[in-house]
Amino acid sequence: MRSLTVGTDPAAAGKERWYSDWQNDEHASHFDGRSSLLNRMLVRNYESFNDVRLLNDYLVRSRPTHLLEVGCATGEFYRYMRLKHPRPSYTGIDISLAALERARQKYPAGHFFASDPAMSLEENLGRQRLPTRWEIVYTKDVLHHQTDPFSFLAQLLGVSLRLLVLRTRTRDRGPTVLDPESSCQYHYRGWMPYIVFNIEELIDQIRRRIPDCEVILYRNHMVLGGVGNRFLPKECYLPETGTAETAVGVFLESDHRQRVQVIDREERSAHHPIGERILHRLLGMLRWR
Ligand SMILES: C[S@@+](CC[C@H](N)C(=O)[O-])C[C@H]1O[C@@H](n2cnc3c(N)ncnc32)[C@H](O)[C@@H]1O
Repeated sequence: MRSLTVGTDPAAAGKERWYSDWQNDEHASHFDGRSSLLNRMLVRNYESFNDVRLLNDYLVRSRPTHLLEVGCATGEFYRYMRLKHPRPSYTGIDISLAALERARQKYPAGHFFASDPAMSLEENLGRQRLPTRWEIVYTKDVLHHQTDPFSFLAQLLGVSLRLLVLRTRTRDRGPTVLDPESSCQYHYRGWMPYIVFNIEELIDQIRRRIPDCEVILYRNHMVLGGVGNRFLPKECYLPETGTAETAVGVFLESDHRQRVQVIDREERSAHHPIGERILHRLLGMLRWR
């Protein structure tokens, strides 16, 4: 376990406990599972996710030159980008020093930077002497782990120039419960926020900040409550609440300004041939920890 310096903001003291478990080496090992996937398995794995499909469509169409990933963990999305979209430069930031260390060891050519959850995204980027505006911002499974996710969403939008793609969790019915004490997940021997956004509220928060944008959401319904050590509001254990893993694309420069599309799109796990699976197992056993 590593220590994390959490800024000078007095509110940060209470906040720190919701973020400290990301420093655990277990997080780095867990999220490094993809590192033993063969390249073609990795591509299939990422492309089974709606957020990557959304992002890919745009990357192929618009050929941007810079992408920022927020919450890059151990850098496997960097590998995916190098394999599939080598054109845009890639920069990843994360608060987990353990995960970043692993990313840097595996991919010395990658640009991975530490950020501090007590500072805003813009401050973190500035502190690392990185640009504070990015053509494309991508963030997978990070927003719902924030103590103040709507403020974090505003920060993500604030640093995005053309497109923000994120993956998070939504519910069709019932309000967003923002109190992490009532909506959290037990991970790496500690609790972290796990906020399930009412889908209309989420759209509203985006539109309030960028009224002219186009928003596309791909919703993959599943019951979220009780799975994966999640301690969620009771309704999230019921199918009728309509909880989902949801990919969101916010297009800041679009010909379809103000258009919002919510599309149900089921995700299926990638299927890998048996030979690849055996090789993957062997590599997994050999993988350094
Ligand atoms: C659930 S993991 C997802 C990792 C990776 N995006 C993926 O999907 O494989 C969340 C990651 O976000 C990082 N994180 C959490 N809060 C963050 C913040 N405020 N800024 C940057 N990274 C953050 C964590 O350290 C962790 O590596």
